[in-house]
Amino acid sequence: ADVARVDALIAKMTLEEKAGQMTCLADSFRPFNPPNPSVGIQDEKRLAQEIAKGRVGCLFNGIGVAGGRRAQEIAVKDSRLGIPLLLAGDVIHGLKTIFPVPLGEASCFDPALVEKTARVMAVEATAAGLHLTFAPMVDVARDQRWGRVVEGAGEDVYLTGLLSAARIRGFQGRDLRRDDSLLACPKHFAAYGAVAAGLEYGSVDISDETLRETHLPPFGKAFAAGALTTMAAFNEINGVPATADRELLTDILRGELQFRGFVFSDYTADEELIAHGFAEDERDAARLAVLAGVDMSMQSGLYIRHIPDLVKSGAVPMATVDVAVRRILYVKTAMGLFDNPWRSLDAAVEKTRIATPAHHALAREAAARSVVLLRNDGVLPLDPAAGQKIALIGPFGEDKANLYGPWAFYGDPDKGVDIATGLRAAMPDPAKLTVELGCAVNGPIKDGIARAVAAAKAADVVILAVGESQAMSGEAQSRTSIELPSSQQALADAIAATGKPVIVLLRHGRALALHDGVANAQALLATWFLGSETGHALADILFGKVDPSGKLPVSFPWESGQEPFFYDRKSTGRPTVDNGSTEYKARYATTDNSARFPFGHGLSYTDFQLSDLKLSDVALRWDGAVEITARLTNKGKRKGSEVVQLYIRDRVASRTRPIRELKRIQRVTLSPGDSTQVRFTLSRTDLEFVGAGNRRIAEPGLFDLWVGQSSTGGLHGQFTLYAAAPTTSSPRA
Ligand code: IFM
Repeated sequence: ADVARVDALIAKMTLEEKAGQMTCLADSFRPFNPPNPSVGIQDEKRLAQEIAKGRVGCLFNGIGVAGGRRAQEIAVKDSRLGIPLLLAGDVIHGLKTIFPVPLGEASCFDPALVEKTARVMAVEATAAGLHLTFAPMVDVARDQRWGRVVEGAGEDVYLTGLLSAARIRGFQGRDLRRDDSLLACPKHFAAYGAVAAGLEYGSVDISDETLRETHLPPFGKAFAAGALTTMAAFNEINGVPATADRELLTDILRGELQFRGFVFSDYTADEELIAHGFAEDERDAARLAVLAGVDMSMQSGLYIRHIPDLVKSGAVPMATVDVAVRRILYVKTAMGLFDNPWRSLDAAVEKTRIATPAHHALAREAAARSVVLLRNDGVLPLDPAAGQKIALIGPFGEDKANLYGPWAFYGDPDKGVDIATGLRAAMPDPAKLTVELGCAVNGPIKDGIARAVAAAKAADVVILAVGESQAMSGEAQSRTSIELPSSQQALADAIAATGKPVIVLLRHGRALALHDGVANAQALLATWFLGSETGHALADILFGKVDPSGKLPVSFPWESGQEPFFYDRKSTGRPTVDNGSTEYKARYATTDNSARFPFGHGLSYTDFQLSDLKLSDVALRWDGAVEITARLTNKGKRKGSEVVQLYIRDRVASRTRPIRELKRIQRVTLSPGDSTQVRFTLSRTDLEFVGAGNRRIAEPGLFDLWVGQSSTGGLHGQFTLYAAAPTTSSPRA
């Protein structure tokens, strides 16, 4: 029925109305973005005229039922064909209830939690009049200098795929037609996380294998989870901007990855083809983008201005336009917009479904579970009954401006709970907390360090809140170094010199290279940007109400200069080996090319131990499976959770393979003294890689495996994959 309805509409549409459906503009009915002068829209009145003429298919980045309803009324009642608008926005980690930034939340290594928080984000976003979010970001981030690392699930392909699919299931719910289903838009297609030197909007020069091995698989998982839109990336790939890359947006996206929805451009990315040096002018840029497979143009207005004429002149076939419009209208029908254009536009719902206590309770849980305990010499957890004097020092101690992180612009910063507020609420005697700034985020303040040192000396324990401001990560926030600003490092070193026990709470949107007073503090926690409930969640962790159980989704290198750095790198012909000579080996002159804190690392207040690794067989038949079991025991004195991780290495292959690859995770919660068996199954498809001719293949031969608590160490085992038709020669024959 939907197909017939869409075809009937297309048959009635003028060329201009078709180009209108392919146009997405900032929503000046519900101001967030300024009006768009490049399409002549200076105000709401002008936008209303455009909608009434059928020249807009989608509005984005405004919220609120009243404005959305007014816009929808014009589209449905005043435009010739009454086609409803799609109302979109960037709800990346919450609308009003702000959850941890996606990189932070990835630390929970828990798809069930990610699905739950995404559901709440969708419930709030749809209550505020949105149909679609430009999320999740599924780009695999290989260089921590890149600002957008904060928006994804980190450096690993498997984890990114797993969590992205969970996020999409959460956003969309079970039925796209329900008024609380929020359409997902996994982005940015493709390889945005591979921009050279982490430079935002930069170029990507990449092999076919790496593209398919690292950057495409999370998109495959996202589409399999039901995503019906995606967004072309800003970057070029091997000399062709993604927005104009037909091989990428059509052959790979629709052929190899079986994508069935529609493609947005990124914000003015079609127009940017001119600056790339790929298009002659705006008309040429529109032509290239639509022919490549960009169905909807965001914000530039290029499609509405040029597509009608491009078709009339024969430069773009009508069939291409019809296909794009069909995809867009199909998504609108799939969401039930034609039957109910008022879905998600109910003022009564808006009042009751946003920022509820239940949503805040979940935000607090998610925030606490996103914290990664990097080191702890025993100073944590603090005993609230001990009545210790605490000095909270640093630019993020009593500060609401940097709680949420980037992409939380609908949230109200005043409503967030900062660290000082959270600690006071948890302390029997809040007067025992003193707060000192010490320095600004990016510079000294008068007497700041002296006052902070005095406060530290007068306290029993110091909590030092240092790191990046929220403006230091996100879009267009690449850094040349991933170290702390020097004013904060100086503060940390001065506090360390007091000899008081120091607990460092890092605020950050990427992995950091840590030094001296920060790296060697008695306790060190990665706390990202935790959102609305930051202070409460951190108090829960610091005072031991919640056991830390987060794991790093990105490796923390020793030095900035190791970037791009990720755990699943290749060996070299001269790897460094433990206890071996480091002469003429693949290392930096002053630094091992290892991590200070590896991917997957994260401690707990209790003590987990793995033992008894067993494989069901040391031989894996071509169509068989191998079962791997190990025992996890809580040897400590507190209840806690551990994420058991399974890694493999293909010893010898026709293309060199990473030194380790994550293949499975399992989260387990155990009481003191309890133990359980964790169980994983691997089959041939888990061993596949991109071989010659870009085909996924597995090769017979020996595989290492590790069951561990991070990407280093672990219990080691081996198995051999045997060919379909066993041969008498070596297994690799
Ligand atoms: O969704 C974003 C995208 O990730 C970066 N550019 C702007 C878009 C819309 O706000």
